[in-house]
Amino acid sequence: MYSKVVETTNFLKETTEYRPKVAIVLGSGLGNLVDFIDEKMEIDYSDIPNFPVSTVAGHDGKLVFGKIGGIEVVAMKGRFHFYEGYEMKEVTYPMYVMKQFGIEKLIVSNAAGGSNKTYDPGTLMLITDHINAFGTNPLIGKNDDRFGPRFPDMTEAYKIYLRDLAKEVADNLGIAYKEGVYLGTTGPTYETGAEVRAFTGMGADAIGMSTVPEVTIANYLGIDVLGISCITNMATGIAEKAHSHEDVVDVAKKAGENFCNWVINIVKKIG
Ligand code: 6GU
Repeated sequence: MYSKVVETTNFLKETTEYRPKVAIVLGSGLGNLVDFIDEKMEIDYSDIPNFPVSTVAGHDGKLVFGKIGGIEVVAMKGRFHFYEGYEMKEVTYPMYVMKQFGIEKLIVSNAAGGSNKTYDPGTLMLITDHINAFGTNPLIGKNDDRFGPRFPDMTEAYKIYLRDLAKEVADNLGIAYKEGVYLGTTGPTYETGAEVRAFTGMGADAIGMSTVPEVTIANYLGIDVLGISCITNMATGIAEKAHSHEDVVDVAKKAGENFCNWVINIVKKIG
């Protein structure tokens, strides 16, 4: 895989002159952030050598290079989910490329269901830690020491200094936020009520179907991570009605304004 990652990275380096140190992964309904990226240069995933091939028709997956407040960034608009049938190595492939490309800091976002009863839909949650409930790990298999260690440390999976910086930015802007633990499952089903009760007992504040694989690999590669969940609905058993993906995207879009404002100002401060 190493040579593939190098090949992909070389392609990107030949295709763009941007050399960002900050990457942003945009979750469902949060893609509007790209509207705030200046001097955009976009590359479709389908044009990037060795990138996983999207199976979903009309799925817009692209890398968006550009600047936020003069700081160079690259945003992933659209990510690869395990439930789509990708291997874990495919789901996390972009992270390996990001590292090789020179990315030092990663801001990940997602839409998630609230299992903490006090976190209403529309809440932005700074991720303090995660629980891997995928039943697998993207690092299973032979380790390539050129990427990272066999037994990566996850003590500060979401860096305290980045969380402190995000809190300071939110306080200055008057953006309300909560903090909590994100639990990632494979999906594509939403959880049963019993699962939600179990996960809540385990310490989950929000539940989603992404993020854990990418953040695991980012930690392995030595990329500093900041994570933000947009709570789009209450989890099963707490919610008053059945889940719908349309509602999830709708609420994420509504919370998107605060989300964008927050992330833009975090980037300015990081850069
Ligand atoms: Cl309730 N569960 C999961 N796994 N993912 C979600 C969600 C719930 N709401 C939005 N994304």
